[in-house]
Amino acid sequence: MVTARLTIDPQFTVGTVNPRLFGSFVEHLGRCVYDGIYEPGHPTADAEGFRSDVIELVKELGVSTIRYPGGNFVSGFRWEDSVGPREERPRRLDLAWHSTETNEVGLHEFSSWLEKVGSELMLAVNLGTRGTLEALDLLEYTNIASGTALSDRRIANGRTDAFGIGMWCLGNEMDGPWQLGHRSADDYGKLASQTAKAMRQLDPSLELVVCGSSGASMPTFGEWERVVLTHTYDDVDYISCHAYYEEKNGDLGSFLASAVDMDRFIESVVATADHVKAVKRSDKTINISFDEWNVWYLDRYQEVDKIEGIDNWPVAPRLLEDSYSVADAVVFGSLLISLLKHADRVTSASLAQLVNVIAPIMTEPGGAAWRQTTFFPFALTSRLATGSALEVRLTSDTYATDAYGEVDLVDAVATHDEATGTTAVFLVNRSQTEHATVTIDLAALGGVSVRDAQTLTDDDIQARNTLDDQTRVGLRPNTSVVVDDATTTITITLPPVSWTALSLS
Ligand code: AHR
Repeated sequence: MVTARLTIDPQFTVGTVNPRLFGSFVEHLGRCVYDGIYEPGHPTADAEGFRSDVIELVKELGVSTIRYPGGNFVSGFRWEDSVGPREERPRRLDLAWHSTETNEVGLHEFSSWLEKVGSELMLAVNLGTRGTLEALDLLEYTNIASGTALSDRRIANGRTDAFGIGMWCLGNEMDGPWQLGHRSADDYGKLASQTAKAMRQLDPSLELVVCGSSGASMPTFGEWERVVLTHTYDDVDYISCHAYYEEKNGDLGSFLASAVDMDRFIESVVATADHVKAVKRSDKTINISFDEWNVWYLDRYQEVDKIEGIDNWPVAPRLLEDSYSVADAVVFGSLLISLLKHADRVTSASLAQLVNVIAPIMTEPGGAAWRQTTFFPFALTSRLATGSALEVRLTSDTYATDAYGEVDLVDAVATHDEATGTTAVFLVNRSQTEHATVTIDLAALGGVSVRDAQTLTDDDIQARNTLDDQTRVGLRPNTSVVVDDATTTITITLPPVSWTALSLS
């Protein structure tokens, strides 16, 4: 039996949980847009061709901001192709994913879909194959009310009011050699600074995200952040982090500890940003937009999915359609715990991605839409994690991992919402064999009652939801909770390889 102990005290505040922590990402990639959110012939399609079953699932997931339209896709994208009469929109090669982009869904359509799901747009500009002028053109098109060539073109294209887009990404993964227009940190930093200044000259209210590293294992990691922020510190609000995790070589123990890597990644970027702050004697603090994170079996893409051939450019091919197991969802839940633990500096994040492509929601053309295992931790955390994130002063038994050394078997974070009087605790048990008994000291909260406790686990940690068995895995009530009023503690038992959300009032 594993044991762990933690303390919940509303004084131990890390920071306010920004709802933008529960953002996602829709890229023109595979079947994320076409056959995913948009399928005109589908029985549930609305008048605009959007699948209503998917809209309902996205609402249930509780997604705040959605990053769009890429990803690697954006570095070859000409935004002008995606507006105006549909029949006049060009079909283009998408070099990033070796596909054909029909431009049937563009800025106007996606914005209309966002209104249906109740999410905010976070728009990326192409700083790979394009530059400052095209970014300014797009901004004029989206944010100027009327009376200029591009704002009037938007109006002629059917949208009277400005889109008023507040959050913008200055390119995507510009540190990656795979990126169209990949640059050195110095070259990208100069371009990003120049573009940010120009965009703010047009609209000073913008919140801007500069590209950080596309992963902590990149050879340029650390130095990239330092150089890019040295150029852009005064011009941007956020630096991005991207991280994907997968079980490698059958090493489940290290995989289950992936959040340790995420913790270190975030803390390194914060340290680097604060170093630049000190050197510049700046009063301003740069926060993190963790705008791509997930479990992703990247090797499968390289070995199985990858499309090649000069005459082979399919429309909406099946790409990156990872099927997620219970173990994947437990790791996924622990990544959410890591984001919450750093809520003071990670104030925006995007689960990559939303539908069909490494996604919590899957669809079949003409058929069903269903929840993957990863859907559940996201939906419950985005619903319960409000107010302030709290440090929980955790002590836990540990285990040895090849990748990260000695790691806590239990990890946890809490949130406390003064306004509603609710507290939530999110816990993970990484043991592959043992139950964990966790004692939670609640003395600082006074009397509490348990509203709910839900656990994601299964005797078969490889179990998953599929087209043929869409509800195989789900949350189950955790009935082990015992409240001891005399000691103002709660004990809860966590099954091996499990993720749990405990809600108190
Ligand atoms: O999310 C899939 C891809 O991963 C994105 O297009 C890219 O930014 C990252 O490498």
